Amino acid sequence: MKAVTISLFGFLLVIAAAIISFCDGNSKVLCIGSEGQALLTFKQDLIDRSNRLSSWVEGEDCCEWHGVFCNSLTGHVKELHLGLLSTSPDAYAPAAEWDAYFRSKLGGKINPSLVDLKHLSFLDLSNNEFGGLAIPEFIGSMKSLTYLNLSWANFVGAIPHNLGNLSKLHYLDLGINSLFEAKTLQWVSGLSSLQYLGLSLANLSKATDWLQATHNLPSLVELHLSGCSLNNGPSPISVNYTSLAVLDLSQNMLSSVTWIFNLRSLVSIDLSSSGVEGMIPSGFQNMSSLKFLDLSWNSFSSSSTLNWLSDLNQLQFLSLNSVGLQGNFSSAIGNLSSLTHLDFSNNQLEIEPKYLESLCNMREMDLSNNTINHEVSEIIESLSRCSLDRLESLNIAFNKLSGHLPNQLGQFKTLAYLYLNRNSISGPIPFSIGELSSLKVLDISYNRLNATLPQILGQLGNLEHLDVSNNMLEGNISETHFSNLTILRSFWASNNMLTFIPNPSWIPPFTVKVLD
Ligand SMILES: *[C@@H]1O[C@H](CO)[C@@H](O)[C@H](O)[C@H]1NC(C)=O
Ligand SMILES: *[C@@H]1O[C@H](CO)[C@@H](O)[C@H](O)[C@H]1NC(C)=O
Ligand SMILES: *[C@@H]1O[C@H](CO)[C@@H](O)[C@H](O)[C@H]1NC(C)=O
Ligand SMILES: *[C@@H]1O[C@H](CO)[C@@H](O)[C@H](O)[C@H]1NC(C)=O
Ligand SMILES: *[C@@H]1O[C@H](CO)[C@@H](O)[C@H](O)[C@H]1NC(C)=O
Ligand SMILES: *[C@@H]1O[C@H](CO)[C@@H](O)[C@H](O)[C@H]1NC(C)=O
Ligand SMILES: *[C@@H]1O[C@H](CO)[C@@H](O)[C@H](O)[C@H]1NC(C)=O
Ligand SMILES: *[C@@H]1O[C@H](CO)[C@@H](O)[C@H](O)[C@H]1NC(C)=O
Ligand SMILES: *[C@@H]1O[C@H](CO)[C@@H](O)[C@H](O)[C@H]1NC(C)=O
Ligand SMILES: *[C@@H]1O[C@H](CO)[C@@H](O)[C@H](O)[C@H]1NC(C)=O
Ligand SMILES: *[C@@H]1O[C@H](CO)[C@@H](O)[C@H](O)[C@H]1NC(C)=O
Repeated sequence: MKAVTISLFGFLLVIAAAIISFCDGNSKVLCIGSEGQALLTFKQDLIDRSNRLSSWVEGEDCCEWHGVFCNSLTGHVKELHLGLLSTSPDAYAPAAEWDAYFRSKLGGKINPSLVDLKHLSFLDLSNNEFGGLAIPEFIGSMKSLTYLNLSWANFVGAIPHNLGNLSKLHYLDLGINSLFEAKTLQWVSGLSSLQYLGLSLANLSKATDWLQATHNLPSLVELHLSGCSLNNGPSPISVNYTSLAVLDLSQNMLSSVTWIFNLRSLVSIDLSSSGVEGMIPSGFQNMSSLKFLDLSWNSFSSSSTLNWLSDLNQLQFLSLNSVGLQGNFSSAIGNLSSLTHLDFSNNQLEIEPKYLESLCNMREMDLSNNTINHEVSEIIESLSRCSLDRLESLNIAFNKLSGHLPNQLGQFKTLAYLYLNRNSISGPIPFSIGELSSLKVLDISYNRLNATLPQILGQLGNLEHLDVSNNMLEGNISETHFSNLTILRSFWASNNMLTFIPNPSWIPPFTVKVLD
């Protein structure tokens, strides 16, 4: 009996060892020859100016190639990650950086040899440059795909309907190309596992059935149809996207959106520039899961009330930029204590500063171009109650602020962007401004600030743009004003009574692009 037990034990050990070595990365399965060949054929038709695919060499294990992932048990190629991950350089970046970015995009043609990768479930070709190529029909026969991303890659032409054959798809992203849909989105309705559908910028003006075609997708979580020329208010069907959380219908010409209010699972709604008119519908009130709501650039009636906001206590992002509102901002704003981003710029709104006191998570606030008629110190005081450690961007330009800049301003240690230009702020610039050590942009132009420019400004080592022009500042500017401004890119100080006579041997610590 004992012998049997021992040998059984030994047998189990052998099996265990076998399993361990099988799963162990060291005893890996190699690429399947025909699949390696298919990839090399695919590579031949690509243009790869930055040599991203230099590791794709005949005779080497294709599972080790850049962007290629194999199933560790079978060796079949299961994922191709060839989307360009790096994002575009910023607008100021030197031409060489932009050139390198464009060079790193793959181009050329997409060889049908991809079809030979029978087990491919993940295909990402996004953010490349297939300048003018149509989406190849054969992709519709790659039945194993669960993830297909062809976005941002300059594909043009009609969307092939046979993509509707890819019944395993969970993610389909064809957004930000120049595609169009000739008549119907019905082909989408068969993609019953779809969680993400991205067709932004595809011209769907003829696909008037877009809502019918998508609303019964049982697993759909994200729907991105920005800039799709959706025009007619969708026919009044009762929609029941049961799991939809993210809905982006921005940049369209919708008239009515009331059907949205049944979708209680929504967390994010983008209706910016979507042609919605009239009163802001209070239907949003019942959407208590909302975290992101962008209604900017629509023509709402100026007397729309915003009291419905008070129930949206999960809201983190709210934009009402340029929607034609007038009057007092609703006290409901005081209830939105989760807000991190608030934008109601370009309206004719006044706000009671005390409502800002409870916005304890605020990071970016844009109240510019309104009719706020308070002392600037009242606003700063209210904000200082609980956003001192978080506020990164504050824009109250183009309002009717008066009074003096308070010393308290220096307490906003995280503030990087401060715009108070085009108000009626008077008095001196407080020395405490030198404590705003995160400041990158300071614009206090077009006010009535007087006295001298504090030398302590020269300590703001992160400052990139400084505009104090069109005030009543006087006195001498010295080299000390710039002592630590090593990354200053623009400096405006015109229309004051300032004098600057630098020592001829002075070498500025910065290289400005604009000096006024
Ligand atoms: C597709 O790729 C783009 C660009 O690389 C990316 O921004 C987007 O999130 C991807 N879509 C999905 C569904 O992963
Ligand atoms: C694939 O889709 C096309 C167009 O939608 C259809 O005609 C064809 O029968 C489908 N093929 C298969 C195998 O399902
Ligand atoms: C969309 O296509 C229609 C014709 O189908 C055309 O009239 C319209 O101008 C297109 N929209 C855009 C934004 O290109
Ligand atoms: C959606 O509603 C339609 C009827 O309006 C119904 O036939 C369908 O089963 C519903 N779908 C889901 C996923 O509930
Ligand atoms: C919000 O929901 C309640 C209860 O479901 C309903 O009675 C009310 O009409 C809804 N309000 C709006 C504005 O849709
Ligand atoms: C706005 O609120 C202020 C103070 O609460 C009040 O005096 C004023 O009349 C209100 N203005 C409008 C247009 O409701
Ligand atoms: C804030 O919410 C509470 C409870 O949800 C409500 O009683 C109160 O009236 C709201 N305050 C404002 C200013 O809307
Ligand atoms: C201010 O907002 C109005 C709309 O309320 C707009 O017409 C105007 O161009 C805006 N001004 C600036 C300077 O942005
Ligand atoms: C600055 O302006 C204020 C009025 O806002 C005035 O009281 C003060 O004397 C002025 N200071 C200087 C130095 O001109
Ligand atoms: C200059 O700026 C740097 C940050 O860029 C900071 O670390 C340093 O303390 C500053 N020096 C002075 C004298 O303010
Ligand atoms: C400004 O500089 C000039 C010349 O360097 C000097 O004569 C004048 O006294 C200075 N003014 C002040 C207020 O420091």
